[in-house]
Amino acid sequence: MANWRIKSLDSILATAEKKALTRSLGAFQLTMLGIGGIIGTGIFVLTAEAAQVAGPAMLISFVLAAVVCGLAALCYAELASMVPVSGSAYTYSYATFGEILAWVVGWALVLEYAVAASAVAVGWSGYAVGVLQNFAGIELPQALVNGPYAGGLINLPAVLIAVAVTALLVVGTKESATVNAVLVVVKVLALTAFVVLAVPAAQSDNFVPFMPLGAGSAVAAASIIFFAFVGFDAVSTAAEETKDPQRNIPIGLIASLVICTAFYLLVGVGVIGSYGAQPMIDAVTGTAPFPGSPEMAALCAAAEGAKPVVCSNEALAHVLREIGYPGIGNVLGLAAGFALPSVVLMMMFAQTRVFFVMSRDGLLPKGLSKIHPKFKTPHIVTMVTGAAVTVAAAFFPVGQLASVSNGGTLCAFFFVALAIMALRRSNPDRKRSFRTPAVWLVAPLAAAGCLLLFGFLSWVAQAVFFGWAAIGLVFYFLYGRSRSNVAMGLDEVNELDPNIPPQGVPPLPGIHTPGGKDA
Ligand code: ALA
Repeated sequence: MANWRIKSLDSILATAEKKALTRSLGAFQLTMLGIGGIIGTGIFVLTAEAAQVAGPAMLISFVLAAVVCGLAALCYAELASMVPVSGSAYTYSYATFGEILAWVVGWALVLEYAVAASAVAVGWSGYAVGVLQNFAGIELPQALVNGPYAGGLINLPAVLIAVAVTALLVVGTKESATVNAVLVVVKVLALTAFVVLAVPAAQSDNFVPFMPLGAGSAVAAASIIFFAFVGFDAVSTAAEETKDPQRNIPIGLIASLVICTAFYLLVGVGVIGSYGAQPMIDAVTGTAPFPGSPEMAALCAAAEGAKPVVCSNEALAHVLREIGYPGIGNVLGLAAGFALPSVVLMMMFAQTRVFFVMSRDGLLPKGLSKIHPKFKTPHIVTMVTGAAVTVAAAFFPVGQLASVSNGGTLCAFFFVALAIMALRRSNPDRKRSFRTPAVWLVAPLAAAGCLLLFGFLSWVAQAVFFGWAAIGLVFYFLYGRSRSNVAMGLDEVNELDPNIPPQGVPPLPGIHTPGGKDA
């Protein structure tokens, strides 16, 4: 049963108590943290990609993605209020399903956070290029602002922002609550300006045909635009720093998601209604090329007249410029350029946290979580993460990166949905200050929604997911399985009180029968 080693909830909570960070965040800050993590490249950039995949039906995609995230958020909220510790879905899985699935989830979270950081860096690049052009008249060579997917060499602005954020994290910049709040206000103001100007300009003709590429396309676009909602779970990774987490975490998760969903729908209506969002169709093949593909780049290069929104790297700014508000469009671009780096920072920070917890648990080399003597940051793990984020941002298109990231996120959400049901059965009496309503409906629907969206991801994203999982499993069996704290009997509860023998730790009456310390 070595593969089903379960880390007891008591042990996890004891770890949190022992290594607790200062608890300073309340419901309001958490909601701001959630909005700060959620609003980013998804709405500012991927709206164009969703339009290329589904046309105006992307409105359905927004709703579908929001529903899946909402269901997952309800599950996250119960788990976070029950196990308010760092590590998110990885930690919950350790307590519920045991080490091997926890490893798979933790490994999938790398896709979620690190690849998301790359995607946001590429999204930022589109706006940065626009800002340079519109405010300074500087036109960077195409070869240096696109990867090979669009006929370029390297996405240099994306590289620069990824390197800059890595450097900030190494020297110890953790976005302060105040900076985050300012950036949230900037993003919300930018989206509000867009909605106020674009929605009244909407024309019903622009919604026709509503579903030019069929119903499946709306689900496929949802599997991309899902990225726009990712980030709310960063709230739960802040559980160790939250006051009264039992109350505040669920509020922060759900409030941030509801607020962002409302904005996204209005923005979607504004884009489609005011400017139109029909996909580009290849006249020869009669199909709509996938966003970010060389075929798509060729079609966009050949397009005459006003650039369609699906060809823009700065969708919202572009729409405002084209509907008669060039100045405000440029300012919106500036706001995005100013605010998106904080999403890169949050994603990379979350990644280093997950790596840190996995390394603290012995599943990754302890050397990775070494703390820098001067900066007091986990500099090694940060630099490794930063290098990977930079390379991915340099050479891959934003939509593909977002889809790959979504694969990891959907895996994590899927296991969170299963975990909540398993814990209701195995630990019915443990205190839950937030109980997911109608859990036997909500959790299965959340799991099914994740499977549905996963099934509609691009084949590249699916292949990367399974390839990554396979590499992770090989690594686990060669490395983590024999070195994890649980394997070695180094239980945190025992570390707290050396007089308690390993077997004395009250095991979580889990779904698998514990068999000694190796349960
Ligand atoms: N939801 C975040 C974004 O859209 C990751 O950039």
